[in-house]
Amino acid sequence: MDKIKVIILDNNLEERFDIENALANIDYIEIARTPDDFEEALAIIDSEMVDVILVSNNFNGSGYEIVEKLSTEFVDKATIILEKEMNEDTMYQAIFSGAKDVILLPVKPNKLVDSIYKANKITKKRLEYHKKTDISKKKKSGYGQVYSVFSTKGGTGKTFFATNLALSLLKETNKKVVILDFDLDYGNVSLALDIVPKFTITDVIDDIKSIDSDYIETYLTNHESGLKVLSASKEANINDFINNEHIQIILKALQSAYDYIVIDMSSRFNDATNPAFVFSEKLFLITTPEIMSVKNIKSAITTLTDFNYPKNKINIVLNKFSKNSDIRSNDIEKILGFDIFYKVPDDYIKVMGSLNQGIPYVQKYPRSEISKSFSSIVKNITDDNK
Ligand SMILES: Nc1ncnc2c1ncn2[C@@H]1O[C@H](COP(=O)(O)OP(=O)(O)OP(=O)(O)O)[C@@H](O)[C@H]1O
Ligand SMILES: [Mg+2]
Repeated sequence: MDKIKVIILDNNLEERFDIENALANIDYIEIARTPDDFEEALAIIDSEMVDVILVSNNFNGSGYEIVEKLSTEFVDKATIILEKEMNEDTMYQAIFSGAKDVILLPVKPNKLVDSIYKANKITKKRLEYHKKTDISKKKKSGYGQVYSVFSTKGGTGKTFFATNLALSLLKETNKKVVILDFDLDYGNVSLALDIVPKFTITDVIDDIKSIDSDYIETYLTNHESGLKVLSASKEANINDFINNEHIQIILKALQSAYDYIVIDMSSRFNDATNPAFVFSEKLFLITTPEIMSVKNIKSAITTLTDFNYPKNKINIVLNKFSKNSDIRSNDIEKILGFDIFYKVPDDYIKVMGSLNQGIPYVQKYPRSEISKSFSSIVKNITDDNK
């Protein structure tokens, strides 16, 4: 990792020492030399490749004015304001000065390091984006269709269904397709597609104010098929701050840029990701032919109908179906009060083979029964949209 060079513009020695101590043991942070005045600070920032500028709120009269000057002059550097109190006034000043963040004094070491890391990452990324001129501007007409894959029981095959559905949509329609991992705590779409994401949804949320249909592209990871992926963070419980509004911003941005948006949901209703249900053209509810799984889907249907969720959006998928299943499919239909839209056979050996090689099922076994069925699902749902 490249070192992040930080300059501290603070005339108060105690505050400065606190900050230096907080950063002293962080191996990827380097502190630039201390300037005597603002003139010298400018020279250091310019000549010593400073990345992040920490400015005390009363540096040189007004820290905010300094931040404003610096953010206009050095667009490739992140400024962070150090403030004694946070109120409406200081928030307002910070936003309009162009500061990337406000840190309360006395500094909390973890918060400071985290803020420096994020402010630098966002600034460098934006710079890269503006330099790049070849970002695909291929726009589609109308809004993208959203297909969500949900189940209230874990391990029924949501990720399997969502990834293979997305790849089949891409192959059959040759349009722009993106898959979103909204299983925020335990997402494993990247694993299923054998990709290593550079960014995850957590990075998008950190930069949510900049998100639009072009810029969100820079947070997606390419799968070699051409499918785009918005991955979940690898760390569980890191996403407690993601809210309903964030998810709506992401979905709206992607709907303007993509034809099809497939969402792998978590195994529970979650306030933050609930907009996915509303945005969905179709909701695939996955069950396996086991009593517990069917019972769980039944209660999911009850919850959805309590909210007046349109029944015609719901598509029941019976996954891991075999002749020896616990329950017969017409009994499942009776219990649920819904027809089974689609049955995916249990194909343990091939599924394991594709997982072990990191090649998605429909790519590895294009002629198998399951792959043909995915093609017909795609035909079915895309015909519905005509
Ligand atoms: N039709 C199938 N035949 C055989 N194995 C399957 C089938 N569908 C899924 N599996 C396997 O079942 C396991 C669970 O599938 P998957 O991870 O897709 O479920 P999930 O609902 O996303 O689980 P989680 O709740 O943990 O996210 C995986 O090992 C998967 O490969
Ligand atoms: Mg999953």
